[in-house]
Amino acid sequence: MISSRNKSQITPIIGLQWGDEGKGKGVARIASGLSTKDLIVRFQGGNNAGHTIYHKGKSYVFKLIPSGVFGKAQIHLGAGMVINPGALKEEAGFIPKGTSFLSRLSVSHHAILTLPTHILLDSISEKKKGKRKIGSTGRGISPSYTDLTLRRALRVGDIFEPDFKKRYLALSQEHKDTLQKVFNYKVRKEDTIGHEKDFWDGIKFLRSLAIINSAEIVSETLSGGHKVIAEGAQGTLLDVRFGNYPFVTSSHTIAGGVSTGLGIPPSFVGEAIGILKAYTTKVGEGPFPTELGGEKSRVWCRDRKFTYEKEKFSNPNPNSGNEFEQGIALRRLGSEVGSVTGRLRRTGWMDIPLLHYAIKINNATELVLTKLDVLNGFKEIKVCTDYIIRGKRTTEIPFDLYRAQIKCMYKTFPGWRGKLSDYSGKLPKEAMNYVKFLEKTLGAKIIYVGTGPEEHHVVERYWSHP
Ligand code: GDP
Ligand code: IMO
Ligand code: MG
Repeated sequence: MISSRNKSQITPIIGLQWGDEGKGKGVARIASGLSTKDLIVRFQGGNNAGHTIYHKGKSYVFKLIPSGVFGKAQIHLGAGMVINPGALKEEAGFIPKGTSFLSRLSVSHHAILTLPTHILLDSISEKKKGKRKIGSTGRGISPSYTDLTLRRALRVGDIFEPDFKKRYLALSQEHKDTLQKVFNYKVRKEDTIGHEKDFWDGIKFLRSLAIINSAEIVSETLSGGHKVIAEGAQGTLLDVRFGNYPFVTSSHTIAGGVSTGLGIPPSFVGEAIGILKAYTTKVGEGPFPTELGGEKSRVWCRDRKFTYEKEKFSNPNPNSGNEFEQGIALRRLGSEVGSVTGRLRRTGWMDIPLLHYAIKINNATELVLTKLDVLNGFKEIKVCTDYIIRGKRTTEIPFDLYRAQIKCMYKTFPGWRGKLSDYSGKLPKEAMNYVKFLEKTLGAKIIYVGTGPEEHHVVERYWSHP
């Protein structure tokens, strides 16, 4: 599928919304066509990511290891990542023996280590934020990147130094002092003890891996005429600078992050493949213009558990006149529950102004549209085509989504009868109209459409519908 792309350039695979677009499945599919000389890299983020794939009937959630692990390609955790060593060891343990992935796995010596005290700092600082909380995944991501810019972080390459333990203890102590002085929180032994054991077991595991320079492996792969795929984590609207600040993660999730996240020139980065869901979801706090049920949904998803929602709404109606209930139906049909934290994902309609922005910023010339099957059963499907801000119609997203007081203008599409799977490899007319509208409006080709969570649940757009 990506054979037409320039082999001498990296192909970024980027989420165009707020994460959880189905990047894992997209990458796994593309990776299945790669050879042993090709390379899949992660260039940012850490175990805040949760990329789900189905392989041989079993589901896996990848957090640090790229989703293409079941293919043949080399896999690399790049310089721009933050790595929790215990989490990496645990995740590696879930991958079935026989995939020989350890011999294909390497880690950048520049990547930042997440310490147990980073995780504590993340949770305590979120609690202190109260109403202004971001809704972080609690994996210590922001404090780990903070230490990078404070120029005191421990990096993967440091684990071989004789004074590593001493530096670890010194940095942990600095974190504990911050917790005490800034947050008035006295660290107890039980706060970190389990994490510390995992950390040191993880360090032992890391020492057994190939620790290398991202720039070298990428350059060598490209100059050998092989492919490099950069697997994005999170999504464009979560980019630390160009996302919907401050409700963002702490890394550069956009295609621009591939260059700085791997230490390679921008000219090495080619056109991106953008992954988008047939609707929109968001986990955590922050504005969400097309959210079904608006503020009520935000608060509900912040405060409720999936089991409670299931009890209250055993069979939510996707065609209810009540948007809040429609949002719950969308969540239920799409199983929109966070793969890392188990939180309810907020749900809403597709948002064209956001996607225009994301496509432009990433130079996404090809798109993968996922989860179209989730809209089976909706008599009407809505798409936000424009925003109205202070009485003016616009397709540009404002500087601050939060304060802009956006009203959405919607176009309505008729749904289709039955399930997409009933159409054996084709799409019904109504679904095709929706896909064609998106392509035309977004100005990019949809190369395939997801029709279910498993590997074979896909319609190859230009094969089935020339
Ligand atoms: P990622 O973080 O972008 O990799 O996405 P997640 O794995 O967090 O969330 C996407 C969810 O949708 C996962 O549970 C996938 O198994 C599932 N999924 C992916 N593509 C499709 C699709 O086309 N249809 C359906 N029904 N589920 C899908
Ligand atoms: P994948 O790769 C969805 C969100 C969190 C929170 C904000 C900051 O699976 O798409 P952080 O822990 O990074 O400091 O949290 O970002 N977030 C994600 N939302 N998918 C993700 O990853 C996310 N990673 C972080 O919910 O709002
Ligand atoms: Mg995810």
